[in-house]
Amino acid sequence: MNIEKIRADFPILSSFVYDKPLVYLDNGATTQKPRCVVEELENIYYTTNANVHRGVHYLSQRATDLAEEARVTVQHFINAEHSREIVFTKGTTESINLVAHSFCSQFCNKGDEIIISEMEHHANIVSWQLQESIRGITLKVIPINDKGELDLEEMKKLISPKTRLISIMHVSNVLGTINPIEDIIEIAHRNDIPVLVDAAQSVQHMEIDVQKLDCDFLVFSGHKIYGPNGVGVLYGKEKWLNQMPPYQGGGEMISQVSFKGTTFNELPFKFEAGTPDYPGVIALGTAINYIKKIGLDSIKVYEDELLQYCTDKLMQIEGIRIFGTSDKKSSVVSFLVGNIHHYDMGMLLDKMGIAVRTGHHCAQPLMDVLGIEGTVRASIAFYNTKEDIDRLVDGVKRVVAMFG
Ligand code: ALA
Repeated sequence: MNIEKIRADFPILSSFVYDKPLVYLDNGATTQKPRCVVEELENIYYTTNANVHRGVHYLSQRATDLAEEARVTVQHFINAEHSREIVFTKGTTESINLVAHSFCSQFCNKGDEIIISEMEHHANIVSWQLQESIRGITLKVIPINDKGELDLEEMKKLISPKTRLISIMHVSNVLGTINPIEDIIEIAHRNDIPVLVDAAQSVQHMEIDVQKLDCDFLVFSGHKIYGPNGVGVLYGKEKWLNQMPPYQGGGEMISQVSFKGTTFNELPFKFEAGTPDYPGVIALGTAINYIKKIGLDSIKVYEDELLQYCTDKLMQIEGIRIFGTSDKKSSVVSFLVGNIHHYDMGMLLDKMGIAVRTGHHCAQPLMDVLGIEGTVRASIAFYNTKEDIDRLVDGVKRVVAMFG
């Protein structure tokens, strides 16, 4: 990993805030974009802009080809069996909502159960709660232990003949815990239950092979993987997607429309209503090719080292509490120091040029379980350095000194 060279690909990393060099440690919220991704967007708009799948003319066909190439890039990136199993969406949240709506309308009746966990992001809670009110399904919730790990023994007890799906995050955006999704999928499949993996916080940090995992659905966002905002991915096994009804109507999702009735397009277009964000899709392919060139293996080793360095240094601060102490963690440290409010810590760090996230991180039920209102969260990317961590730790120490 040539960090200096990598950092040069991200112009924003050399910027200043309040006359201080920026330290960007809010990568869990969104990642910065390398030059090649922004240039790809510009290039598409300047040279190849035309609506996809709709024109006989050159530009439309060229844009269509590039967007479909990006689908194949995503397919290979997560090792899906078919490119038609890759559906482009607006992001993780839309992908989960799509599955919740479409899967439940096909497979769930009143009283059926969906299992999630205490550490889920709101997107993986509220999407299912909407189905609770529409279809009368019930949510069951896997508890966590003191280290912020899922209790799989409890999960087994939650499984019943009425369980229709287990929907679980791979890596917690608050605790950093890497959940044992291999074990969860194995247990679920023994009981004929499909599994959705929310990979929003994992796909940018580690290799994912959906065929090896044998997950039924996997979702992630473009903007957290160095790609553009407003584009995301739903992977679904063909056997499920084929049985599920469309989520939205219009655009390329139709086969034939008449007032007597409408038939739907084949996969994946059945789930892509309206003009898709094809420049975003193409630039997502560029982002994936960029990180593939660096290599997820190297990224993981480097980020794990930074995470350990950050954890060790923060632990030396008196009165610090780190939330999420599993041995298996990725790229996130959430903490509080003494009675210092997370907003105060975040605002003062900001004045020193250090960007972290504060608050409940879209995981209010997890905050309730932890008995806190929020945390300060530093989240790491492969362009961060030990100097960034040193600046964070010094900053936290300065805030602690200010508060006496
Ligand atoms: N879910 C994103 C985060 O954890 C926005 O910050």
